[in-house]
Amino acid sequence: MKVDAIVGLQWGDEGKGKIVDYLADQYDMVCRFQGGPNAGHTLKIEGKKFVLHTIPSGIFRDALINVIGNGVVIDPITLAAEISKLEAVKVDFRDRLLVAKKAHLILPTHRLLDAASESAKGKAKIGSTLKGIGPTYMDKTGRNGLRVGDLFMNDFKEKYQALKEKHLGLSALHPEVEFDLETEEAKWFDSIKILKSLKCVDGEYFVNEALQKGQRILAEGAQGSMLDIDFGTYPFVTSSNTITSGICNGLGVAPRNIGDVIGITKAYCTRVGSGPFPTELFDPIGEQLQTAGHEFGATTGRPRRCGWIDLPQLLYTIMLNGVTKLALTKIDVLNEFNEIKAATHYDFQGAVTNKLPFQLDNQIKPVYKRFDGWNSNIDHCSLVNELPSQIHNYLDFLESNLQVPIRWISTGPEREKLIHNPRGPSVKSNET
Ligand code: GDP
Ligand code: IMO
Ligand code: MG
Repeated sequence: MKVDAIVGLQWGDEGKGKIVDYLADQYDMVCRFQGGPNAGHTLKIEGKKFVLHTIPSGIFRDALINVIGNGVVIDPITLAAEISKLEAVKVDFRDRLLVAKKAHLILPTHRLLDAASESAKGKAKIGSTLKGIGPTYMDKTGRNGLRVGDLFMNDFKEKYQALKEKHLGLSALHPEVEFDLETEEAKWFDSIKILKSLKCVDGEYFVNEALQKGQRILAEGAQGSMLDIDFGTYPFVTSSNTITSGICNGLGVAPRNIGDVIGITKAYCTRVGSGPFPTELFDPIGEQLQTAGHEFGATTGRPRRCGWIDLPQLLYTIMLNGVTKLALTKIDVLNEFNEIKAATHYDFQGAVTNKLPFQLDNQIKPVYKRFDGWNSNIDHCSLVNELPSQIHNYLDFLESNLQVPIRWISTGPEREKLIHNPRGPSVKSNET
């Protein structure tokens, strides 16, 4: 068996959680492989909304195993809060939620350093979620980090103390950052008891043995490919590899064991935080997208910046991820637009290109193609041929330009609002 992947193709919040929850039914296991509580994955099941930050989005499917892989950075406080929400709705997760011992821990002082780093950058700030992600990955690559497995070692308290002292030394340069260390530490130590009560496993063996037994595994990406530390809009990115290759390091899966790669894109585009966004709209249409799409961050509540779908950007992330199937989300958000646009190329330094230059700055002028809107509600549509012809035009255009079949069309936040698109591929398919 191979591991199938779900990855975000834009700047995050593409609707990955919803699609993972839907598809999880077809798998035995869902594994998160990178990121941490900067993620906010929203699921809407039987009228109830759940936002997951660390726990994989397969947790609401009975009997399904959910693994927090070694590539994830875990804040025990956030994890404990998520767990108490599961308990409140009586989700039986105890034997189904596993944590890789090699996953790194976010200490309270990592959050302090995140705030200090943003404060130092002033106007050039990344717009981080301030969850301590960057400093934790820095300690990981700097070989100073603490891992879940360390919680079970006798010298854990000393290791914790040493790392905390180092952080306090660094943050002393930023006395302007307010941080109630005592309270945060008390919460953290309470929460690690909950983390330790979960099944902590050697994730790499667990996942590979499951594959050998023929189990079906879905890897759940967090963030979006344009936030990837290597290929995103650096430095306005997150601190992990968000693309498919992150699965190999973040779960311990060999490249030849990756199967289908399902890329998720909104029918338009959003970004939260700072950094370039070529198709961003600063006009009433952008506001209309924000309002109709309820575009406010699931983790921070910040308004998301909105714009049209960007084909050069998607071609880039389809290439980087090796996408074999697409899921298009939030098409219903466009229900009330008279016209819809898609950027087909960029005008860059006097030449037309569909490649992303080294720096995505305001020298890039997107070139748009326009489409008629459908100006109608699509709530009643559950089959692809029930969708208005204008949507078909848009889908055909996207498929033929992106050269990947659109297998799912999401028409609302609810689990069941997903149209499977079994049409014979209008493009040559690489599906496995
Ligand atoms: P993720 O981080 O990729 O999992 O996405 P988020 O949960 O941060 O943001 C996606 C938002 O869009 C959530 O509020 C979802 O409930 C919502 N959503 C997902 N799919 C659809 C859809 O097809 N239509 C609408 N209107 N909302 C959707
Ligand atoms: P999901 O999984 C959208 C953005 C932040 C900021 C930058 C760096 O829900 O799609 P960080 O906290 O990692 O230091 O922030 O990345 N960012 C996200 N934007 N969705 C996310 O996750 C994000 N995770 C981080 O807004 O611009
Ligand atoms: Mg999100």
